[in-house]
Amino acid sequence: MTIKRYELKNLQTNDILTLDAHEGSIGPDVIDISGLYAKEGAFTFDPGFVATASCESKITFIDGEKGVLMYRGYPVGQLAEHSNFLEVAALLLYGELPTRSQLDAFTHSIMHHTMINETLLRFFNGFHYDAHPMAMVSGVVGSMSAFYHDSTDISNPEHREIFAHRIIAKIPTVAAAAYKHSIGQPFIYPRNDLDYCGNLLNMFFAVPCDDYEIDPIAAEALDLLFILHADHEQNCSTSTVRLAGSSGANPYAAIAAGVSALWGPAHGGANEAVLRMLETIGTTADIPRFIKKAKDKDDPFRLMGFGHRVYKNYDPRATIIRKMCHKVLERIGDNDNPLFELALKLEEMALNDDYFVEKKLYPNVDFYSGIIYEALGIPKSMFTVMFAIARTVGWVAHWQEMIADPGGRIGRPRQLYTGPTERDYVAVDQRV
Ligand code: ACO
Repeated sequence: MTIKRYELKNLQTNDILTLDAHEGSIGPDVIDISGLYAKEGAFTFDPGFVATASCESKITFIDGEKGVLMYRGYPVGQLAEHSNFLEVAALLLYGELPTRSQLDAFTHSIMHHTMINETLLRFFNGFHYDAHPMAMVSGVVGSMSAFYHDSTDISNPEHREIFAHRIIAKIPTVAAAAYKHSIGQPFIYPRNDLDYCGNLLNMFFAVPCDDYEIDPIAAEALDLLFILHADHEQNCSTSTVRLAGSSGANPYAAIAAGVSALWGPAHGGANEAVLRMLETIGTTADIPRFIKKAKDKDDPFRLMGFGHRVYKNYDPRATIIRKMCHKVLERIGDNDNPLFELALKLEEMALNDDYFVEKKLYPNVDFYSGIIYEALGIPKSMFTVMFAIARTVGWVAHWQEMIADPGGRIGRPRQLYTGPTERDYVAVDQRV
């Protein structure tokens, strides 16, 4: 990291404060204000962290203006075309594309740690059948620290490695158990002879009383979606994992915090919200009415799957997913899927509307992903769980990076306090 200098002038005293700025390998300069309070007695104010880098990271880079996303320097489009999810997972975790033998060993390890402790399976019976699967997944992932004591000493690199493999291997099993519980079907145990996505499809859709054939197109589509969802630098859920983990909390607790943060409709919950929105819009004739609602400041309605904090251009993931949508729908003979038709029209009309153009609101990763999930037979309530399976890799990579950083400190933001100033306690009988 080269150092540049910036100057900040205090207009009351005319004092000039020199601030160092770190220059990353790419991307904007990052002004180091960590000494600001000690020198000036002032905090910075940046609600929503719009202009604040919370950490140094070598994992993922986004250029929101240009619509660029790279994992460890590799453009996500190239990875989507040539790689597979577990290879991308190894890349995100270890920093380099694995050699053939490294990839085989990693894949073998992940595919041989897929079972969960049998007692964990009984947890699902404690949930009502209509519990949201994200509630079950975050609860069960948080509970895993109670079972896997050989991976909770965060100061031990071997424990951290066991944890990383274990959570990536088992999260599909937890997700499938949540799904089977919600539909009242028997749990299907994982199969180590299948690949990551084939095994997931089998756990979701096989039943003990019948044969189930894995559709290679479904497995390919899932693998692609997982690559595209695997990481996205310091997004809300990843920052949550880092913050929770920075206290030294066990990693299962930190990942459970990430699952909970992902659930919200402004983040990973958007894929479910998009499908519900498309169903509500119903017909292309009604699109103008909903675009009008989205533009109305007095109406809370927003076009779900549109807009992004970082991308002010096409989300590169949305373009790739839209292409995959065509392929999946074609293969399952659903070329005229009405929701996809509606989504394409909605995108076209929004992108020709001044409001969306001026505010640089483009379709994001979640605009088309739900259409693929639905075509694969995955119910809406599971969409965000699918996202969580993929993003677990990113969460783990960031957690590992943070814990391995010798200069790591607990995350503890400050605030602009606007509450009452000091006042004296008043006895209850004397209060008016
Ligand atoms: N529909 C209509 N207007 C929108 C939308 C939208 N989807 N998104 C943003 N805007 C408008 C806002 O009203 C605001 O207008 P203003 O400047 O006149 O007040 C302006 O665009 C900027 O929006 P903010 O909410 O300030 O932007 P922010 O960066 O805080 O939020 C977010 C980004 C949460 C993604 C937002 O665009 C949104 O709510 N989108 C819909 C939900 C969604 O798709 N989330 C998934 C994001 S991708 C992911 O997390 C995996």
